[in-house]
Amino acid sequence: MIDRATVDRILDTAAIADVIGGFVSLRRRGGNFVACCPFHNEKTPSFSVSPSKGIFKCFGCGKSGNVVTFIMEHEHLSYTEALKFLARKYGIEVHEKEETAEEIAQRQRNESLWAVSEFAAQFFAETLFNDPMSRSVGLTYLRDNRGFSEQTIQKFGLGFAPSGNQLTEKALAAGYKAEYLTGAGLAIERNNNTLADRFYERVIFPIHSLSGRVIAFGGRTLRTDKSLAKYVNSPETEIYKKSHSLYGLFQAKNAISRLDKCYLVEGYTDVISFHQAGIENVVASSGTSLTSGQIRLIKRFTNKVTVLYDGDAAGIKASIRGIDMLLEEGMEIKVALFPDGDDPDSFAHKHTAEEIENFLHNSEQDFISFKYDLLSAEMAKDPMRRAEFIHEIIRTISLIPDQIARTVYAEECANRLGMKQDILTNGINKARKQYVESGLYQQKQAQQQAQEPVSQPTWDLVPHLPAEQPTRKAASARLQPTPIMEPIEKEILYYLIRFGENILHFEEEQKYNAEQPVQRITVAEYIAAELTNDGLELITPLFKKVYDLYYEIQKDGLTDQNRIQHRLINWNDPEITKLITNLITEEHTITIKEYNKALIPEENVLGTVVPKVILIFKAKFVDHTYQSVMKELAQAQSAGDEARQQELLTNIRILVQMRREFSNELNRL
Ligand code: CTP
Ligand code: MN
Repeated sequence: MIDRATVDRILDTAAIADVIGGFVSLRRRGGNFVACCPFHNEKTPSFSVSPSKGIFKCFGCGKSGNVVTFIMEHEHLSYTEALKFLARKYGIEVHEKEETAEEIAQRQRNESLWAVSEFAAQFFAETLFNDPMSRSVGLTYLRDNRGFSEQTIQKFGLGFAPSGNQLTEKALAAGYKAEYLTGAGLAIERNNNTLADRFYERVIFPIHSLSGRVIAFGGRTLRTDKSLAKYVNSPETEIYKKSHSLYGLFQAKNAISRLDKCYLVEGYTDVISFHQAGIENVVASSGTSLTSGQIRLIKRFTNKVTVLYDGDAAGIKASIRGIDMLLEEGMEIKVALFPDGDDPDSFAHKHTAEEIENFLHNSEQDFISFKYDLLSAEMAKDPMRRAEFIHEIIRTISLIPDQIARTVYAEECANRLGMKQDILTNGINKARKQYVESGLYQQKQAQQQAQEPVSQPTWDLVPHLPAEQPTRKAASARLQPTPIMEPIEKEILYYLIRFGENILHFEEEQKYNAEQPVQRITVAEYIAAELTNDGLELITPLFKKVYDLYYEIQKDGLTDQNRIQHRLINWNDPEITKLITNLITEEHTITIKEYNKALIPEENVLGTVVPKVILIFKAKFVDHTYQSVMKELAQAQSAGDEARQQELLTNIRILVQMRREFSNELNRL
């Protein structure tokens, strides 16, 4: 957790237009900026940034927030990660909660490993462009043999590792310690205690973490000598866990989430060629079979994956296991085969983005039916293996977590096999049961939980209420949050946040009791009085929290609406940020419609509208209470508790009476 003072410093420093301008090109329009929205596809700009309010809002897709939630959504980071991202950009030192000596040491070690990896990446890239030998070998290869443009080479930070131990020598001379060179997998210790470069005479593909740090490298030889490994890759290190990284994900993540789809290919060059062709939602498993850690990385952005094969049978068979795993994780998997002799890399060089998209769209096939085809081709050759084939299909389907999806596949396969569906379904259920009972499933669950991002600790702002409450409160305290209450509670917040400090003018009353003095009461005061008098509270947790917060901030002496909004927007909680920016930017359409806002500004009708909103809230509250009391009554009846039943019946009579009064009142208004 990052301390409040640091958060404030970050928010004060990180100008929203500056930060967002780093990702999209902003054009000035009046006091604001506009751009095409980075969160959805559009051709005319509906994304707007307000430097004075410190917020952004897309009027097309509705996304809104402040500078931190922008980074969270755009870079797919957690709240804390987003704050650190901004802190790094502006050189702000981050104070975190107390760290143990061990944690501090590990963090500093990681920083050193990242730093030396970044140094190496720069060295390789500079060598590729500036060292004459490397240029004529490496750059020529990348440009002429692979057809990569300079822009592409730069986008992926490609480089060249020259002969000898140049990296190690340069890094040591620049002050990087030997232990970090070996720790990052860049140098290897020789017997005589000297260091040697791991990568030499190879084209270099840097591997990035999700947040864009260089954490490892792949090096491809340019020789055809078969005794040389085609690729040399970084080993596992403290900053590089192979099973938790995917090549190209950093460059692909925004496109993946925007398009809600991910293409999975085999190699570095496949990813790069797709990008160059204009298709960016692609990642590579880098030749190894997929791990569940990698799948979960993809799952942060989409659960639709299309696996691209270069059509050779051996390769397909080998990767089928990996795909079963995608199913286990509840992903929607498709498979596409490239025509003979083509892989994603070569295909991308021969076609435009549109042609590639069309080809993939037309040839991708659902994984289960793909596997069915594959197996049934084998079965055609060897009919004796029919049972074995059916078992394999059953096993695969049983891995799918979703019951309905399993049923659909069972139906489809039964049809194709000419089998009774319940035989197949029984088989699947049995296999599922075995799987769930086997250690494997539990292991998966446990892994999943370990992977679950820790929920953001939010500040406990609302003072804890004592356990014993006055009777009326106690009645409402039993109520569970419900979607029934949400719209009207949001409406109350809308008036509080937008107009809380406006004076309410009760026009009606003035007309009829002209001699009485005009009441001077603000919207916020009116709402608070109405709710506390009746012992009512908002019951949707987030709304209640914001409601309480409003009055807390007000108690600090802030009565300027803009400043209250500003405080709330930049509260240390992204949920609140999103809610408030929504409330202050959204076209207001919810409950009260009788005023034409074009003619009468909303603040002129608060005296009529706000009381009505409160009344609707109360009526809904009574409905909701009524429903939960009825439930309790049913319980008391089945438990035979006579006294409780009488008590509840009395409550119900009161509630019915109240409901009638509210209806009358609402009709009058
Ligand atoms: N790979 C590896 N080590 C090897 C061979 C392959 O790590 N000895 C990984 C690399 O990530 C590579 C991927 O597997 O990108 C796919 O292998 P391959 O198709 O042989 O390599 P390409 O990168 O496609 O190279 P090329 O197109 O030049 O054959
Ligand atoms: Mn290849």
